[in-house]
Amino acid sequence: MNYETIIFEKLGDIAILKLNRPDKLNALNRKMLYEIDDCIKKIELDTSIYGLIITGSGEKAFAAGADINELHECDKQSGKLFSEYGSYVFKRIEQLSIPVIAAVNGYALGGGCELAMACHIRFAAENAKFGQPEVSLGIIPGYGGTQRLPRLVGKAKAIELTISGDMIGAQEALRIGLVNRIYSLNELLDKSIEFLTNSLKKGKIAIKTSIDCINKSQELSLLDGLNYESQRFGEVCGTKDFKEGTKAYLEKRLPHFTYE
Ligand code: COA
Repeated sequence: MNYETIIFEKLGDIAILKLNRPDKLNALNRKMLYEIDDCIKKIELDTSIYGLIITGSGEKAFAAGADINELHECDKQSGKLFSEYGSYVFKRIEQLSIPVIAAVNGYALGGGCELAMACHIRFAAENAKFGQPEVSLGIIPGYGGTQRLPRLVGKAKAIELTISGDMIGAQEALRIGLVNRIYSLNELLDKSIEFLTNSLKKGKIAIKTSIDCINKSQELSLLDGLNYESQRFGEVCGTKDFKEGTKAYLEKRLPHFTYE
């Protein structure tokens, strides 16, 4: 499928999904959500992809929110569907078992901030600006912002950001735990690729299984989560990579993982 609103490319075992409406600050319209969804389905089926980076085209924005032209048309019924579809697409990203980095290059507002929060980790450029400005438009965050923001930064900070609609810069986002790392805009993509490349030298089955277990921690009780972890731990103990990783340690050499 040729995409109109995103660019999808593979770099070895890493995929890069670029939101590509730079003249509209990569605002998320219906077509873009549909194309992201299609791309995620392809990634799920492609067993040669082990990591994903989501970023924005241009230097100014990751994504400046849901497309306000489309949003303006919503009524009570279609508004619910509008929110459900975006939430569904972002949930699919969150549930990927390969690591997903949001490389935030500029504005990540409204749906853009919500997309970044659905990714597993966030690296920000120095010019990144985060915010949930929806109340200024008379609505609420609808692509998961009221649920993921408090989980990341705590309830009080989430309420402060949401009811003020204020934007915060990369340093403040780092301080409150909304982003993991900050790089210069020039370095952001290369550093994200470098991080994934280094991580993927470890046991890839173990990486995927860890992410799956950590994702479950957001949904399960502690007891159910611990049981789930033990079950998955047992599964990983049955892999060749586990035998190789532990054998290599005991033999004081580097492991040679075969992802089996
Ligand atoms: N939806 C639709 N179009 C958007 C958009 C959005 N969320 N955000 C930006 N754009 C468009 C602008 O309308 C403009 O298009 P035009 O050139 O056809 O007029 C273009 O992107 C550039 O934006 P502009 O506002 O001129 O850039 P700026 O540097 O002056 O301001 C922002 C940048 C991010 C502060 C400003 O664009 C903004 O406030 N955007 C809306 C943010 C928002 O409320 N997001 C939540 C939506 S739920």
